[in-house]
Amino acid sequence: MDFSLSEEQCLLRDSLREFVLREVSPEAGELDRASLFPARAIRRLAEMGLLGMSIPEAYGGAGLNSVGVALAIEEIARGSASLAVTVSVTNSVCAVPIARYGTEEQKRRYLPQLAKGNILGGFSLTEPDSGSDAAHLRTRARRDGDSYTLSGDKAWVTNVVEGQLFVLVAATDPSQGARGLTAFLVEKGFPGFSFGKVEDKMGLRSSLTGGILLQDCRVPGANRLGEEGQGFKIAMTTLDGARIGIAAQAVGIARGALEESLAFSRQRKAFGQPINQFQAIQFMLADMSTAIEAARLLVHRAAHLRDLGNVTYTREASMAKLFASEMVNRVAYQAVQIHGACGYSREYPVERYFRDARVTTIYEGTSEIQRLVIARKLLESL
Ligand code: CAA
Repeated sequence: MDFSLSEEQCLLRDSLREFVLREVSPEAGELDRASLFPARAIRRLAEMGLLGMSIPEAYGGAGLNSVGVALAIEEIARGSASLAVTVSVTNSVCAVPIARYGTEEQKRRYLPQLAKGNILGGFSLTEPDSGSDAAHLRTRARRDGDSYTLSGDKAWVTNVVEGQLFVLVAATDPSQGARGLTAFLVEKGFPGFSFGKVEDKMGLRSSLTGGILLQDCRVPGANRLGEEGQGFKIAMTTLDGARIGIAAQAVGIARGALEESLAFSRQRKAFGQPINQFQAIQFMLADMSTAIEAARLLVHRAAHLRDLGNVTYTREASMAKLFASEMVNRVAYQAVQIHGACGYSREYPVERYFRDARVTTIYEGTSEIQRLVIARKLLESL
């Protein structure tokens, strides 16, 4: 068993760590407070080739494997969870399904643009009345000659407004349930497409999340992704991979919370000594550090299985997402506790980490859905 990273992976991790420290962390708090999209950092990551980190080199991407992507997302999330989800989503739930299920023409048309950062991508499955029960979609897609007409409301889509391309799932045959769904590549410029309200969120305030409204939106037949009826499987297999990214994001936020707590507890004095000399604080730091390592191992194991290419990793991806997202909420809580009243102030980054951590047990499948997936796999194996 070899837990070591390759020289290339260490280089990627270390250079991103330095970039995040220098360019992302210093502005993350201010952008969060003003709810501003991290446009400058996105441009810089595009220059570094990381907006297309999951895209094969043949289409202009960096061609990183899943372990590489997990390392990158952890580092970015260390400085800004908003930036991390923006980058994770354009790769894992937009570029990846195009690379996997797209026609050659779709790949040539969209992947190089995504890789250069000329366009940003998103994924649209959820609706106002359909979250965990993802097969019950109201958005309808009707065939109309050479194209489809899509009507319905989508909700909680990451990268709205700034995003130009969305992998969007709609019902072509509602009587067939999960087997009656189809995926489409929908551009924001298509007639009948508009963005709905942008959510005023508790956390991830520098990322844009909101609705998509489709009013007889005309989507060319050439923009159907995969076959009719394949949409649910495309969505589920895509989420299997993407959940590893959210788990990596959780590890990154937790690491930020730990590192800030280490620094704070070294300089903050109480009862005549730095508070890191008290066992109460040391035990919290020890627990935080241990939990982060355990989560990272689950993330890397799921990513490694995905990279093998010939094994299913649904269960391991859900385990990584479940454990890491629950872990970061505990760790962020402890970080605020260590900071005392300062942790409750927006002046300190742990207040942001605490809010940013919250959604990780909700989006890309709640903890309850991850448990359901894991339990089903366990029962199947009996
Ligand atoms: N891989 C491949 N196929 C899969 C699959 C997977 N992981 N999971 C299910 N399927 C297949 C099943 O094998 C089944 O196929 P057949 O019809 O051939 O038998 C079919 O899909 C239906 O499966 P289920 O009966 O298991 O479907 P279900 O209705 O019980 O739902 C679920 C299963 C796990 C609850 C699923 O609905 C789910 O994951 N829900 C959560 C959705 C989610 O994560 N939403 C987040 C959206 S993205 C987001 O958060 C926004 C963002 O931008 C970040």
